[in-house]
Amino acid sequence: MFKKCKFGISNLQPLHMNYPYQIKSLEQYHAAYKKSIDTPELFWNEIAETFIWQKKWDKTLDWNFKDPKVEWFKGGKLNITENCLDRHLEKNGNTPAIIWEPNDPLEHHRIITYKQLHLKVCQFAQVLINNGVQKGDRVCVYMGMIPELAIAILACARIGAIHSVIFGGFSAQSISDRLEDAKAEFIITCDGAYRGAKDIPLKAVIDDALIGNKTVKKVIVCTRTRTAVSMIKGRDVWWEDEIKKVESQGLELVTAVSMDAEDPLFILYTSGSTGKPKGVVHSTAGYMVYTNYTFVNVFQYQPNDIFFCTADIGWITGHSYIVYGPLSAGGTSLMFEGIPTFPDAGRFWDIIDKFKVNILYTAPTAIRSLMGFGLGPVKDHDLSSLKVLGTVGEPINEEAWHWYDENIGKKKCPIVDTWWQTETGGVMISNMAGITPGKPGWATYPMPGVKAILVDDKGNEITEKEDGLYRGNLCITQPWPATLRTTYGDHERCRTNYFATYENLYFTGDGALKNEDGQFRITGRVDDVLNVSGHRIGTAEVENAINMHAGVVESAVVGYPHDIKGQGIYAYVIYTGSHGQDTHGTGDMVRKDILQTVTRIIGPIAKPDKIQFVSGLPKTRSGKIMRRILRKVAEGETSNLGDTSTLLDPGVVDEIVKGML
Ligand code: PRX
Repeated sequence: MFKKCKFGISNLQPLHMNYPYQIKSLEQYHAAYKKSIDTPELFWNEIAETFIWQKKWDKTLDWNFKDPKVEWFKGGKLNITENCLDRHLEKNGNTPAIIWEPNDPLEHHRIITYKQLHLKVCQFAQVLINNGVQKGDRVCVYMGMIPELAIAILACARIGAIHSVIFGGFSAQSISDRLEDAKAEFIITCDGAYRGAKDIPLKAVIDDALIGNKTVKKVIVCTRTRTAVSMIKGRDVWWEDEIKKVESQGLELVTAVSMDAEDPLFILYTSGSTGKPKGVVHSTAGYMVYTNYTFVNVFQYQPNDIFFCTADIGWITGHSYIVYGPLSAGGTSLMFEGIPTFPDAGRFWDIIDKFKVNILYTAPTAIRSLMGFGLGPVKDHDLSSLKVLGTVGEPINEEAWHWYDENIGKKKCPIVDTWWQTETGGVMISNMAGITPGKPGWATYPMPGVKAILVDDKGNEITEKEDGLYRGNLCITQPWPATLRTTYGDHERCRTNYFATYENLYFTGDGALKNEDGQFRITGRVDDVLNVSGHRIGTAEVENAINMHAGVVESAVVGYPHDIKGQGIYAYVIYTGSHGQDTHGTGDMVRKDILQTVTRIIGPIAKPDKIQFVSGLPKTRSGKIMRRILRKVAEGETSNLGDTSTLLDPGVVDEIVKGML
């Protein structure tokens, strides 16, 4: 039951829903795991049967990793929104689905029950239909963290349109590339977004992104910041006006379109080791079953728990654990518009206290940054409602883990360290809160259905321990329901990126350690992908952006350890331009210009933390940049740079070491 009317609203209804597949003990975990590996079809059939289907599937699983082809619940017909909304209406219609906390604590929060959310999604689905959106169309969503963002994507799913959410921090150029790649015909955006003390002019960014675009027919703009925007006749319409039209037409609620289990649900762009982000495609049924299963089990969600995931819906964590996982479980998802440090560093703790949050799911980078403010911002808040804590996005260092455990969880909340990826759709390796043991810095056990192995560079499974642990490249041997199905418009790219490095294995791009008990510790990316504040950024992407700057001849980007961000971006740049070369030779003006270029091309999240000007880069005779050396220098290492004899010009290394920042 809701304790003493948590949010000052008395007519909310408690959740009546149980999860027959929720694992309740370590023994049950081991039994479920064994069953899921020995007989995956039987295992997932039983779970899938607890959902609402318009037609049952004919075949549970069909796959090979060679093409790759992964199909779950083939022949089944369903709509994910019937599982996230309609099925809760009868018993749980007045249960809060979304609690929304605005950026400014002085503005009122909003509580949206399942009944209200259902109505809003149906109305907006009708708006989409009225504007010509059809099943299979790609709809780009570029909005701030307001409930209308969740409503927009659910409305797309309701009518079978494929949503492609782009994080609000990406630039016009990034959006333009993604629009083109997805051949998107529709955009849903806001006039602006609030993030801390900043107002971000989202519509103006979209206008820039649309210069030269040939595919987009309609832009639907939701009002949030009341920033002045230019509305182009025939192309741009206001969300609120369109809703009014639907209301005045008195249209029936939109029935959920029948989708094939394998129909794409969404595209989400993510960085890889090449310069161009990939559009990861997730299917409808497998993704739904897997996000629900992992939500209920990893966090041990109980009816009426308030679940607070601090991610942005622009990333996979927000898709899976703000929207689809919690809502398919009839849960209450708390959505926060702002940032952890606005108006002060006590904001998360304030929200937890205000809504009596039971489960907090955040990123190590947020924990590290809040640690830096000391205990002052924590101590005046009552955090006793918390039962479970979670982390995601990057390895958590032990210091941050203990701080989280002692000061936030008060040593009574299990911490789940959840390892997964945009491509995996849901959590792959993690302890289950209070059920399987946690271990600081370790993601621990694979989820049921996930067979994880470590391999050497040739793809052979590691069988010998080093210092008591197995160490290798992390791969998955068989499909799980939320396996990515393809990369949009380029299946070959999906194959070469994930399924071709090692035969018959999905390669994660991560390195890991495993102990004798079969628990995993993720050590980080082994490819040219950086993890900056939990955001994935390809070094090649940043290099391409830097190289766009007039005067830059060449650049090389590597990561280095950063106290708050986990990894910082270190750029080595060969520059021959003259603009702004100040008399002291520090190149500060040029640095600023380069940062501005990166902000324009990708967005502020990809700005290098350090830029070192060099006259050459360490290259082999075949022209390959020796990043190993650059990484070492970026980490502060000046000796032990390894063998430099194969370099074309070993002299550049001395110069780089001398100029180290
Ligand atoms: O390197 C791993 C790291 O984040 C990468 C996936 O990034 P992305 O697709 O943006 O998804 C992030 C949120 C799911 C992984 O390849 N990563 C994610 N979670 C963890 C992690 N590294 C260590 N521990 C984790 N818990």
